[in-house]
Amino acid sequence: MANSSPSVDLTTATILIFGASGDLTARKLIPALYDLWSEGFLSEELPIIGLARRSKTDEQFRAEQRESVSQFTRTGTVTDEKWTTFSRRLFYREVDITDESDHVSLKSTIEDVEREAVGDVISKRVAYLATAPSLFYPAVQALSRAEMIPRNSDDQWLRVVIEKPFGHDLESAQKLSQELSELLSEDQIYRIDHYLGKETVQNILLFRLSNSIFEPLLNRNHVDHVQITVAESQGIEHGRGGYYDRSGALRDVLQNHVLQLLCLIAMEPPALFSGEEIRDEKLKVLKTLSPGSKGPISEWAVAGQYTAGQSQDQAVPGYREEERVPADSHRETFVAMEVLVENWRWEGVPFYLRTGKRLPERVSEIAIQFKHPPMNLFTTVECDGDICSMVERKPNELIFRIQPKESISMKFSTKRPGMQYQIQPVTMDFAFEDAYHTSLPEAYERLLMDVLRGDSTLFTRSDELEAAWKFVTPILEQWERPEHTPEPYYAGTWGPAGALTLLEKSKRRWRTPSTRKKL
Ligand code: BG6
Repeated sequence: MANSSPSVDLTTATILIFGASGDLTARKLIPALYDLWSEGFLSEELPIIGLARRSKTDEQFRAEQRESVSQFTRTGTVTDEKWTTFSRRLFYREVDITDESDHVSLKSTIEDVEREAVGDVISKRVAYLATAPSLFYPAVQALSRAEMIPRNSDDQWLRVVIEKPFGHDLESAQKLSQELSELLSEDQIYRIDHYLGKETVQNILLFRLSNSIFEPLLNRNHVDHVQITVAESQGIEHGRGGYYDRSGALRDVLQNHVLQLLCLIAMEPPALFSGEEIRDEKLKVLKTLSPGSKGPISEWAVAGQYTAGQSQDQAVPGYREEERVPADSHRETFVAMEVLVENWRWEGVPFYLRTGKRLPERVSEIAIQFKHPPMNLFTTVECDGDICSMVERKPNELIFRIQPKESISMKFSTKRPGMQYQIQPVTMDFAFEDAYHTSLPEAYERLLMDVLRGDSTLFTRSDELEAAWKFVTPILEQWERPEHTPEPYYAGTWGPAGALTLLEKSKRRWRTPSTRKKL
């Protein structure tokens, strides 16, 4: 049962979910709202209204959502008693946002539900656009025609949440920003990048800015290079082939999630911990982002596409055999690149980024590799019991494991006990699960909570978005030329050979992140 937590503002607002028949609503939004409510973070009076084209009763909507909440909640069994209390706030109304005649009645439809739920009209609303991107603008137009976009104040507000993709390239992103800005001010738009809602991603900044022993090392004097990996073991999920083949790894994950991680690790400390200041600093990183080499794109960025192989001991098809993917598709399912952040702090330090589908494991991490000491006075050994062999010396590493088994680890050298001076590298690990004995909140819980409290720190601002598109668009254009073919890699491997060469050129190597062995 919900219990109120004194540290949280239990705002009474209405949550409108446009596109409420879709997957996002069932898998992420309603379970996140339910978990927030379970933990006492939602006002008892907050109505949630699903809006979509299909005709459905409140009861049907509630029954459907109960099924998915039972599957996706992280806060324990959904008992009849809990569900009855929670689901009283769930409503469903049939609305076609592409039909202008529905726009006029939208306001009275919503107000009627609010009266039914709390006995009065509510002046604070969140409109979550869980729709296809082509419907973002029509949905905002519908809200505007229905006179539901007030000038935001403490007493009345509308906050509009949109999900990526925010455009397809620089030009379309600018067009979308332009359209939305005709009807909404920037502080009314919350662009979700769910990576920013992950607990361990938020920890990056906190860790950097609250531990005085690490931050002084994070610069070109001490860091050799940084590796950011967002690896997925799954291929193309059922029904996503059409979307993915128009998108690819660069648009789907690198342009947003990976670049956001890079910003958090590379940005300067903000003068104040506020949304605007943090986003100003991230923007500076994006603006100074440059290719890892002065040569053609193929010298510093690699596209790959998986072919049939083995994933987690199962035979799996290649990308071109996936549902709704054309048999001659040239779309990349893997991308690796070397980039530089050309500023005082990071001048000359390569950042290696990679993401892909059908890699050996689902694991996301940032690894900061430090420079070696100036002289190598000792030998380094790796031992199996008493049998030791000499290996290359190992650098210090600081590793943020974003998921799964969230942790922060430090690698350093120790003397191996015995009569000789021999180095044995060891790892010091901090695992969230062991330290806090609690399940971490889902990204959507945190992000929805922040929308309700009007905190936009963890949302992408339009200038950040534009800067990210500016960087990736030339690569997209190159890769979308008919003569471009991504390099094949077997499903279940760490990507194509070209990704290895990217680092080998400078005698570096990718880490092999694994959740099955120690970091
Ligand atoms: C989404 C992409 O943004 O992120 C998906 O569209 C990808 O293709 C997903 O699978 C990865 O997110 P997570 O949280 O599972 O790492």
